[in-house]
Amino acid sequence: MARPRIPSIRSSEITDEKVFLNRRQFLQAAGFAAVGAAAAVATSGRVWATQERKLASFPDLSESPFSTDETPNSWEDVTTYNNFYEFGTGKDDPHVNARDFQPKPWDVEIGGECSKPGVVGFEDLVKPHTPEERIYRLRCVEAWSMVIPWVGIPLGDVLKRFEPTSKARYVRFTTLLDRARMPGQRWPILSWPYVEGLRMDEAMHPLTILAIGVYGKELPNQNGAPLRLVVPWKYGFKSIKSIVRIDFTEDQPVSSWHRAAPHEYGFYANVNPDVDHPRWSQARERRIGAGLFEEKQPTLMYNGYGDQVAQLYKSMDLKKNY
Ligand code: MTE
Repeated sequence: MARPRIPSIRSSEITDEKVFLNRRQFLQAAGFAAVGAAAAVATSGRVWATQERKLASFPDLSESPFSTDETPNSWEDVTTYNNFYEFGTGKDDPHVNARDFQPKPWDVEIGGECSKPGVVGFEDLVKPHTPEERIYRLRCVEAWSMVIPWVGIPLGDVLKRFEPTSKARYVRFTTLLDRARMPGQRWPILSWPYVEGLRMDEAMHPLTILAIGVYGKELPNQNGAPLRLVVPWKYGFKSIKSIVRIDFTEDQPVSSWHRAAPHEYGFYANVNPDVDHPRWSQARERRIGAGLFEEKQPTLMYNGYGDQVAQLYKSMDLKKNY
């Protein structure tokens, strides 16, 4: 089935025109030429629908109190329309180019302003450590217009184990840097590795999760296996994938997209219909998968999560802190 093309690209979708124009060069430089061709063939024949890695299911999930009752996008939407530049700049590149990526074993290093830094294996990091901690199913509107049933543990539950010090004001996240396993990193579109950050209170907010799955199964590679961030009230680029490092910092981290285009992509990146991207309006959005002829709908402040998060920003000028 041909995927509808979205005419106006939202800030959350973030593919620069020059990136589109350079895509062919990118695929060649990054060694994707053969794969790119295969993808073209495969797209018409739906060969890509098969997933190489077997994805285990999570048996015991609690429904998050923050879940919406909106109908989720299909598995196909969620896993074949992605942004993951380490595996190509086209929306349909990552599910093809990340097919052979092996996300396990996987360690995450925790450091910076905390009393208990260390290297922790993925399984130990994301499993509940107390009877109160849970792995949740959080069905939420992702801020590039899909409704996604994530599986994850609240980030705050994980972070507090490392005992952040009073100097910890921010948290910085870093994606794996490995040009062999992530061939897109051979091409200087961003300064690799991909980096993102949150203010401490945003990171500790129960709506912020470390996602380890989707649709009740482990995360497919293209969605950021084995673990990625999900911050439902922010634009999609904040939700960094395939995290290998988490640091508590005193200073505000410089995220990859902010470094690339500081006037376009701010640190906060809260969904806000009143603050336009310099090159396009953010006031309305179209749901991915809804079809070209469906009406766009008004973008909701904080992506509809204002009741939960507006107080985090109550004294801030959101035009300056975009
Ligand atoms: N993380 C890394 N490491 N590399 C990326 O290119 N893209 C971001 C974000 N996380 C990106 C990333 C952007 S722009 C978006 S919109 C979301 O991932 C998309 O997540 P999804 O493909 O699972 O929907």
